[in-house]
Amino acid sequence: SGSGLPLMVQRTLAKQVTLIDCVGKGRYGEVWRGSWCADSVAVKIFFSRDEASWRRETEVYSTVLLRHENILAYIGSDMTSRNSCTQLWLITHFHPLGSLYEYLNRSALSRHQMMLICLSIVNGLLHLHTDIHGTQGKPAIAHRDIKSKNILVKVNGECCIADFGLAVTRRHVQQHQLSARQGTKRYMSPEMLDQSMNVQCFDAYRKCDVYALALVVWEVTRGATGREYRPPYHELAPQDPSFEDMRKVVCVDGARPEPPQETHPTMVGLTNLMRECWHQNPSVRLPALRIKKTLLKLAANDNS
Ligand code: ADE
Repeated sequence: SGSGLPLMVQRTLAKQVTLIDCVGKGRYGEVWRGSWCADSVAVKIFFSRDEASWRRETEVYSTVLLRHENILAYIGSDMTSRNSCTQLWLITHFHPLGSLYEYLNRSALSRHQMMLICLSIVNGLLHLHTDIHGTQGKPAIAHRDIKSKNILVKVNGECCIADFGLAVTRRHVQQHQLSARQGTKRYMSPEMLDQSMNVQCFDAYRKCDVYALALVVWEVTRGATGREYRPPYHELAPQDPSFEDMRKVVCVDGARPEPPQETHPTMVGLTNLMRECWHQNPSVRLPALRIKKTLLKLAANDNS
């Protein structure tokens, strides 16, 4: 399995975890900080109606060696029955700074912090999106729910990508094993919203991730301008927008978030990158490797 442990051992592990406090609640269920021996762990408790997301996330973590500094590290999964109620747990590393969304709401960023956050997210996405052959290999994976709430901030200032409940490999796409659950409407690409996306084509899902990544980069660059946090399309779409709300904004009006009005070359470079990556035409959007190389160049030229 993905944690390298047989299921029986994982069961034992889950029984040894003590839940300490709830650090997140959402449509998915809850996230708790727990302790295991002397270690902090995160326990995501799924609503039983969302068993499909627990199954997919457990499957992705278990069949693929997903060990990367910018991907949330998996410890184990557990399904138990408590007074005739199914409990679904996913146990991972714990990150005390919480999600990027919470972090951006609390803090302004320096340009250096901004670049480290952007680079580390892209590095994680590049690893996910890449097919690696050989015994230590992995298939290419599309995430399908990239957003600032699904990215965690590590104490070293880098980020890691979490929540693989919607993730797909090429095999899932070919075998039509797509979840009934949808991604977050605010971050849906134009081709998903106008239903022109080729749902048979794995690469189309990677293009959707890159669109959502551009919106996250916008959130992060805004944090570096010292303005208060806003979600993408805050001035154009209501809270919890409908599919139709987002289709009107993104497809009919062709609107995109307002890039930072700054003349610093790093900000100008990021603005150009965002524009390419949220382009209406998915084929214009850059692959993760090209985004990473562009960010590395911008970071290397930023000496102040
Ligand atoms: N919120 C969601 N997942 C988390 C984790 N692994 N650590 C800290 N906060 C989280």
